[in-house]
Amino acid sequence: MKVLITGGCGFIGSNFIRYFNTKHPYYKILNVDKLTYAGNLENLKGIERKRNYRFIKADISNTKVMKNCFEKFRPDAVINFAAETHVDRSIVGPSPFIKTNFLGVGVLLNLALRFQIKKFLQISTDEVYGSILRGSFTEHSPLNPSSPYAASKAAADALVMAYYRTHGLPVLITRSSNNYGPYQFPEKLIPLTIINALNNKKIPLYGDGKNVRDWLSVEDNCEAIDIVFQKGSIGETYNVGGENELTNIYIVRKILKILNKSESLITFVKDRPGHDRRYSLSLSKIRRQLDWHPTTSFRKGMDKTIDWYRKHQKWLRNCQTGEYRTFYRKHYSKLGLQEF
Ligand code: NAD
Ligand code: TYD
Repeated sequence: MKVLITGGCGFIGSNFIRYFNTKHPYYKILNVDKLTYAGNLENLKGIERKRNYRFIKADISNTKVMKNCFEKFRPDAVINFAAETHVDRSIVGPSPFIKTNFLGVGVLLNLALRFQIKKFLQISTDEVYGSILRGSFTEHSPLNPSSPYAASKAAADALVMAYYRTHGLPVLITRSSNNYGPYQFPEKLIPLTIINALNNKKIPLYGDGKNVRDWLSVEDNCEAIDIVFQKGSIGETYNVGGENELTNIYIVRKILKILNKSESLITFVKDRPGHDRRYSLSLSKIRRQLDWHPTTSFRKGMDKTIDWYRKHQKWLRNCQTGEYRTFYRKHYSKLGLQEF
């Protein structure tokens, strides 16, 4: 089996390649990644020397280059992780989100059709459903995205399903909740809180800090993605959640407690525009049909994550490129914060 994996140098993609390679050592993997600020070759240290793994630096929205990848590698399947992923960035600059998350998926779908791919798995998000105050979203809930990021992912899901209905392309979609774990870029809530707490820096909490996210360990998500890839029914979408709904303030307090740091580091800042109050997924479909459920407890996953970030200070310093600093100086000064 030859699998083209896109966005494999990012957080979930790199965890997945490591998991997938261990689970299926005879599969051939081609990882195509643009290496944006969020992509890092260091995330795949050790894997790059394997004989069944290859990497190409390329943009999924570039038809010519991607056609070349398909022609040379002749994949049996595609798993698409590549995306612009940070909601705050999509608010100030949506264009790369539209280009990669929507047009890029269009390029991959056209090529998948042309090269008669046997499986196309799109990695999507619970954010496509929007916010829900009570109850949980099923796979049949209407899409109601709030941010440009979520809208670009919802548009991609619609396009993926259109290729299934119109052309019979064998597609699958996973929609997961917020992941946490090793290798997550330090602009997201959990790594940002850990790093700032370790360095006694302020931790920005948007609004009243009571927004709820369902936290899923990245290892559990990798397992679910593999199960959907192997056993999922073609044309179907599967929610993947952690059954771990927590407020942001709870998470930040918990991390501070584990690290023995003062709660005075918490700084309430102006809310994110269009900030979804609560995400919640029903997992009954994936439980019933594929016999999968999350197994990592939040405490165990969090201890492991904190330990990983403590031990990877060099990795962290390498994330702080000029691009990262320029964006966050601007972003934080707008929030009334000084520096990170
Ligand atoms: P990430 O930002 O850490 O990594 C994204 C990767 O995609 C990077 O390696 C980047 O270089 C690459 N990339 C970006 N644009 C590209 C392009 N045009 N061509 C090729 N590569 C490109 O993201 P992540 O958190 O690992 O998310 C992976 C996928 O999972 C995304 O599709 C995201 O929407 C989805 N998802 C993430 C979460 C989460 O909590 N992180 C939750 C649900 C769904
Ligand atoms: P984030 O990690 O950006 O994921 P998403 O917006 O995709 O859910 O944010 C998780 C939650 O934490 C979200 O409700 C926004 C909030 N948040 C803060 O309060 N402060 C921060 O500095 C960040 C990055 C996020």
